[in-house]
Amino acid sequence: MKKIKISPSILSADFSQLGKEIKRLEEAGADMIHVDVMDGHFVPNLTIGPPVIKSLRKYTSLIFDVHLMISPVHKYIKDFADAGANLITIHPEATENLKESLDLIKSLNKKVGVSLNPDSKIELIEENLKDIDLVLVMSVHPGFGGQKFIPEVVGKIKKLREIKDKENLKFDIEVDGGINFENSKTVIDAGANILVSGTTIFKSNNGDIKKNIDTLKSS
Ligand code: DX5
Ligand code: ZN
Repeated sequence: MKKIKISPSILSADFSQLGKEIKRLEEAGADMIHVDVMDGHFVPNLTIGPPVIKSLRKYTSLIFDVHLMISPVHKYIKDFADAGANLITIHPEATENLKESLDLIKSLNKKVGVSLNPDSKIELIEENLKDIDLVLVMSVHPGFGGQKFIPEVVGKIKKLREIKDKENLKFDIEVDGGINFENSKTVIDAGANILVSGTTIFKSNNGDIKKNIDTLKSS
């Protein structure tokens, strides 16, 4: 039985209470905390940066699964590592040299991930798959929570799982965007083992985050 991990996105949390919200997520059984960093340039939204992550670090020992939707990304990687990120995921389109940026993350003793937007092909990162810990498959166009799941990405998840099995690679497959109780089993059956969710976790069942995390986990 595959162990499914849940990484709630704090983009849907109450930003005036982020420390308390993170503690609530940990108590509700979250496996990681998904931190969406946006710069208003790579994506049309602006969220938080290293100072906020640094201030949140003391609220939990859970993995900070930091999703960098910023470009250029290379020069900021160390700042996020120093702030307390444990897993740093970047987009291939946001760096001039993907291998150099991935090697920098690893040199800082952090787990390393690469994210593929719905229109980004696996070919963009195929040669890096053997060197990374995680592929973050975007099932929405990045920038906002609460968007509709794009079903076409299921084929990409399946393809990644095929490559992983064929080449006996170790990367996790994380899916991010529009995940809900109706589509979570589909993405898991396709090969995902980590689910990101913001809206479904914070807004469903009158905000019963433990129930929502448990429901996603048992998809
Ligand atoms: C979107 C972010 C996602 C998003 C997920 O750019 O990367 O992590 O916050 O939120 P929901 O689950 O509401 O789609
Ligand atoms: Zn994200």
